[in-house]
Amino acid sequence: MSLKCAIHLGIPYVIQNHGTPMAITDLDAVLPMLNPTKACNIYRLMRILAHSGFFAQRNLCNDAQEDGYVLTNASHLLLKDNPLSFRPMLNTNLQDSGNLKYDAVDMFKEVLASDAILLKWILLDWNDDECLKILKHCKEAISRQNKKGGKVMIIDMVLMKNDKMNGEALNSTETQLFFDMLMMVLVTGKERQEEE
Ligand SMILES: C[S@@+](CC[C@H](N)C(=O)[O-])C[C@H]1O[C@@H](n2cnc3c(N)ncnc32)[C@H](O)[C@@H]1O
Repeated sequence: MSLKCAIHLGIPYVIQNHGTPMAITDLDAVLPMLNPTKACNIYRLMRILAHSGFFAQRNLCNDAQEDGYVLTNASHLLLKDNPLSFRPMLNTNLQDSGNLKYDAVDMFKEVLASDAILLKWILLDWNDDECLKILKHCKEAISRQNKKGGKVMIIDMVLMKNDKMNGEALNSTETQLFFDMLMMVLVTGKERQEEE
């Protein structure tokens, strides 16, 4: 909810355009969608989002007493012009190099014939039906290349069930759950448990 609110208010873009750590008062002054009666609450919104890693606090250039907000890796993903944005676009301009050859294909239409396919940070963006389409195309691509079969490797975070969490996993649970919320509000995808 807090992230959705920050996106609705355009906070990631405003901070990016500002270029240096941005004070709350400056943020209040330039947010186009902000109801003036709510301006006094922006610091609370930014406080939880900073705690959750979506923004970070840095000293203001001109005043060591006060902190301003900057983007983090997570909030960069909210910007439309980020290549890893959650509104992803296909990059068709990559140049081949050495033993690497780039082919831009729409994985909802086909996947190129291969022995092995690596889907890293792909399936989390899509709902179950969309994932099934992608995985079927991967299966076809591997059967086309090698009748004996091949491998599809999937790298995504795996949500732990509450009863299986140990100390270390508990530490990352909040991040996992917030990412799941992010997938819910920005795209059709979700973070999945192992059996999902
Ligand atoms: C979250 S990024 C992950 C990128 C990369 N695998 C990595 O690990 O950094 C999702 C990727 O899916 C690609 N993508 C989105 N829709 C696609 C489609 N229909 N066909 C092929 N690739 C697509 C985007 O271009 C983007 O590079």
